[in-house]
Amino acid sequence: MPDIEGMKEAKRYYLDIPPRSEPFFLKGSQHLDWGMQNRLSRIFRPETGRTVMLAIDHGYFQGPTTGLERIDVTILPLLPYADTLMLTRGILRSQIPPTFTKGIVLRASGGPSILKELSNEQIAVDIEDAIRLDASALAVQVFIGGEYETQSIHNMTRLVDLGTRYGIPILAVTAVGKDMARDARYFRLACRICAELGAQYIKSYYIPEGFETVVASCPVPIVMAGGKKIPELDALTMAYNAVTQGAAGVDMGRNIFQSDAPVAMIQAVSKVVHELMKPKEAFDLYQTLRHEQPEA
Ligand code: R5P
Repeated sequence: MPDIEGMKEAKRYYLDIPPRSEPFFLKGSQHLDWGMQNRLSRIFRPETGRTVMLAIDHGYFQGPTTGLERIDVTILPLLPYADTLMLTRGILRSQIPPTFTKGIVLRASGGPSILKELSNEQIAVDIEDAIRLDASALAVQVFIGGEYETQSIHNMTRLVDLGTRYGIPILAVTAVGKDMARDARYFRLACRICAELGAQYIKSYYIPEGFETVVASCPVPIVMAGGKKIPELDALTMAYNAVTQGAAGVDMGRNIFQSDAPVAMIQAVSKVVHELMKPKEAFDLYQTLRHEQPEA
């Protein structure tokens, strides 16, 4: 029995201090549930509102991609510098130490290989397995204008329903067909459709003309897709332009792991994303680090 007689009575209610009520830091995410906001906070750094997502999921349609042949050798050294890892459950279970406690964005769509029509994807992960793996978000390709446009949107809306049920955000990845124009008009259309249909954040490509309008017309955060390998200074410049024009960070793969010095490159990218370091300065940092820190 608790000793009621002996209970300390001098309680402090701090009547002079208003209750704390802080807005959630991410655009369009104010009204999400606690679990979903908590997961988003594992992906985006609350201090800056931005993320460096390291994308290594390429194998789900193209097999052992250059730079990803041995995840244990080439990718594990990058983990301390990534805010979030985007990957398949196969690579997560087989290669990533469970001591990794940052964000995990699980590839949740798939089906066709590079030998087939890529837009013909299905949902490729059960929500229970995503929960089992404690995924911070699920990533799904959306092929606006593609052959299987409706099917890919349906994959996304189904995942949004499941994610909403369990508090797991959905990342819609705008996938552009080879023969489609990559311009602001296309990305405004694609990003807005994904947001309207419930994705909690969107991955979109940087475009030199009108990227701010893509961000402005999308009510949820956009992360910049990296794309094919380009020179390091150009990739840092692209990341700088994207974040200064409103992107909530980058989801970058080949421009990091196919760099001549991936460990140095991811650190330079992180400086750009979180500290808005100028591209030339970040490139100098990359050069310095690559000489100081020999790669595997
Ligand atoms: C997109 O289709 C997949 O998520 C890719 O694995 C990812 O977008 C690739 O990143 P990056 O283009 O920067 O290599």
